[in-house]
Formats: sequence, structure tokens, C-alpha cells
Amino acid sequence: MEEVMDATTIQSLTHALEASPDNYPLLMTLLRGMIAGGVAEEGFALMQQYRPDLDFESAQDQVDAAICCLEAGEAETALEICRAEGPEVLIIRATALADLERPKDALDVYRKAVRANPTLEDKELEARINARTSAHVIDRQGHPTKLRVISNDDTDQTELKRLLNPEEEKVTFADVGGLDGIKKQIEKRIILPFQKPSIFQRFKKRVGGGILLYGPPGCGKTLLARATAGECDAQFFNVAIQDVLDMYIGESERKLHAIFDEARRKTPSVLFFDEIEALGGKRQYTREGTASKLVSLFLAEMDGFAKDNQGVLILGATNVPWSIDPAFRRPGRFDRVLFVPPPDRDARASILNLHLAGRPVAGGIDTRVLAKGTSGFSGADLLEVVETAGDLAIEASLAAGSESPITQAMLKDALDDVKPTTLEWLTTARNYARYANEGGQYDEVLAFLKKHGKN
Ligand SMILES: Nc1ncnc2c1ncn2[C@@H]1O[C@H](COP(=O)(O)OP(=O)(O)OP(=O)(O)O)[C@@H](O)[C@H]1O
Ligand SMILES: [Mg+2]
Repeated sequence: MEEVMDATTIQSLTHALEASPDNYPLLMTLLRGMIAGGVAEEGFALMQQYRPDLDFESAQDQVDAAICCLEAGEAETALEICRAEGPEVLIIRATALADLERPKDALDVYRKAVRANPTLEDKELEARINARTSAHVIDRQGHPTKLRVISNDDTDQTELKRLLNPEEEKVTFADVGGLDGIKKQIEKRIILPFQKPSIFQRFKKRVGGGILLYGPPGCGKTLLARATAGECDAQFFNVAIQDVLDMYIGESERKLHAIFDEARRKTPSVLFFDEIEALGGKRQYTREGTASKLVSLFLAEMDGFAKDNQGVLILGATNVPWSIDPAFRRPGRFDRVLFVPPPDRDARASILNLHLAGRPVAGGIDTRVLAKGTSGFSGADLLEVVETAGDLAIEASLAAGSESPITQAMLKDALDDVKPTTLEWLTTARNYARYANEGGQYDEVLAFLKKHGKN
């Protein structure tokens, strides 16, 4: 570490350097002292005098010399000095490029540095580079321009866009661990009919209808629905139920109708209602009449009361199936109800693998062993384990100044911090399954409990 030098020390060392101008280590000591003392810009003149060829030996020397140049406003020289390829040198080079108003090159170099050593990430520098990038967007008068939002009279369309959740990053079945049985069902019921409509038409098999996914929180219902969207070529509408509900009385119905209409116009399409219990389950907050009116309208739309729903598949998800109006389950509506169970051991191992993929991990990680100790963990719990271990690795990296990967020991430590969240749900579900299992609707839950000896 460089020591902070006072002005007299700097002065006497400068004299010493005058006496032995070839003393390279002395020059570097001085430069470092000046940087630490907050007078780095003074180093620039010194450097030019004693190192006119700008040839600095180590990467660290290049960094220090270049810092002196940057402080003196000599970015061009800094760039010349930074020849090494190490990430620390690259960061300085990026700074110099930013100073020289070459944002594109700066960003390239900066990214390369952070890829090589993520602990060097510097949001301030990044923002500075980006500010320069966007400053290039200027209008004819030379003022920076802002995006203008142009609205038109077609409010229904823009509103619809808002009601249908924005598209997220594409997810496919490969991103969903376990749940093979359900994936097959979805393949058969949703993807295949949309991919090969002719054969279904030949046999007069109607394509469409409803599938309801239910199960404990965090076990992949929403993820599975999004993956379904990624797998099939159908239009996928993700409906923001809360926004539909937050409307004035009467408005909700109009909006719901507009959503179904849009889906029918764009067939083949999948309409996804996440947390569907919100539609009928908020009676305590709304006037009773309003909520039940919304439910009946929803059911009417599902029945294709207004128009034919051929080619529209309705996918619903909930973790409180018992608060869903039984009318939802009648034939032609959500006539297929699928249980999304907590992941079994194999599934847990593959979920851990999925979440570890793309993060820096040490060799010798055994997710099979980790999976064994995580009975009752949901996919979301397992993600939290990985993220907690990631936090530990980040801490270790910052302490070491270089990237240290996630290790088995970190994952084990994280396991102790995260508690399984599916057990409570299973207890509740067991009671419904035992005492309110009309039409065998919870048979799958019972089978699961039996298989896992929790009956
Ligand atoms: N089977 C799985 N494979 C991979 N990741 C999973 C899996 N299940 C859950 N996860 C992780 O947990 C997160 C939460 O899962 P998701 O939102 O799908 O749960 P959910 O079943 O919809 O829960 P809720 O009932 O609370 O809405 C996912 O985004 C994913 O990162
Ligand atoms: Mg969900």
C-alpha cells in the first residue's frame, strides 16, 4: 500500500530523483505518494521528464502512471501508457476513453474488464460512459432529445397493452426443473394442438378450453405458464388481474370482455390468468354483487357465450384452490386441473443445477447431496439457497479482490439459513383433501402425501 506523503517528503524525494534520474522504483514511489496525497496531477510532469518513453513495466505501474495523466487531464497519454491487458489496466483505459469522448470504445473496454474481474464493477464510471453515449442523441438545435410518448385515440388498444403484462425474458421447459408429468400434459393439450391443428380438425377435436394449475407457493406454476408461452407458437396473453380489478365498477367487466375478444381475434392464443383466485376471492373488499358479477362474466366468456372460443386456451394458476368458485371447474371451463407438487429429490437437484448454471461455481459441487437435505423446499426456496450462497461468494470475492466462486460449503451454509415453505401449504391442503374432496379434486394431493408418508 502506498503511504500518504506530506509535501516535504515529496519534495525531498523529488530532489533525490533529480540526482538519480534512472531510479525507476523511486519514480514509482513518488507517483504513488502523490496519488495518495491527492496531488496526482503533479506526477504527470515528473513522468514526462523521467519516463519520456512512457514505458511502465508492471500493470500496477501502468495504472498508477495513467491515473496521474488522467488527473492532469491528459487522457491521450494515459491511453498510451495502458498497454497491459489485465482488468485493472482495462478499467483505466476505459476511463481514458470516456474522457476522450469515445463512449463506444469505453463501454467495450469497461465490459471486458468487468467480465474478467467482476469486483471491478464501477457504476459511477459506467454511468459516466453511458451519459456520454446518450449525449449523442441531440436534436437539430443541439439540445439532447427525450423520448416523446405520442398518444392517439385508440385508447382501448393501449389500455389493453397495459392490462396484459409486459413480455418478460423468454423461458422454455428447459428452464423448469422436474415436473415432467405436467410438462407432458401441457405438451399434449396445448402445444401439440397448436402445432398440428389439421389432425385435430380432422377428428373434430376442439382446441382450447381451460387448464388450472394449483399447488404450494414457489413451486413453478407461474414459471411453467411462462415456459408454455415460450414453447408454443401461440399468442400468449398474460393478464394482470389486479389491474383488471382496480377499475371502477362496471369497468372491470368491460376490460375482461376486451381481453377475451383480443384473444379470440388472435388465435391460436393462450390467455394466462395468474393468481386467479383474485377474480372471485376478493368479495370482502368489493361489493358482493360486483365480484360475483365478474365471476359470472368470466365464466360466460370461458363458455364462449359471446363467441366461439375455438383456438383460445385459458390457463389459470392459484395456490389457494379451495377459495375458487366450484363453478370454475365445470366441464368446458377449467376441466383439467393439474397439481404442481413440491419438487422431489431429483427435481430439487435439477432445480439447483439450473440456478447454479451461469454463476461462477467451484469444482466438486454435488447437488444430489444437497437435494437430499432439502425435503419440503420449493423451487423458490432452492433459488434462495443459491442466491444466499452467491452472497457469500460475492463477499469472499470482494474481500479477496478477485472472483471466488460458489463452493459446496457455501451452499451448505446457505441451506441452514433457508427454511422450507411448502409444508404449511401441504398441511392445509391435506385437510381439504380429507374433508372437502368433492369430485376427487384433491386426489393428486392425497396421492402425493401418501407417497411421501405424510398422510
Ligand atoms: N421447477 C422449478 N424449476 C426451476 N425454478 C423454479 C421451479 N419452481 C420454482 N422455481 C423458481 O422459483 C421462482 C418462483 O416460482 P413461481 O413464481 O413459478 O412459483 P408459483 O408456483 O407461481 O408460486 P405462487 O403460488 O406463489 O405464485 C421461479 O421464478 C423460479 O426461479
Ligand atoms: Mg405464481
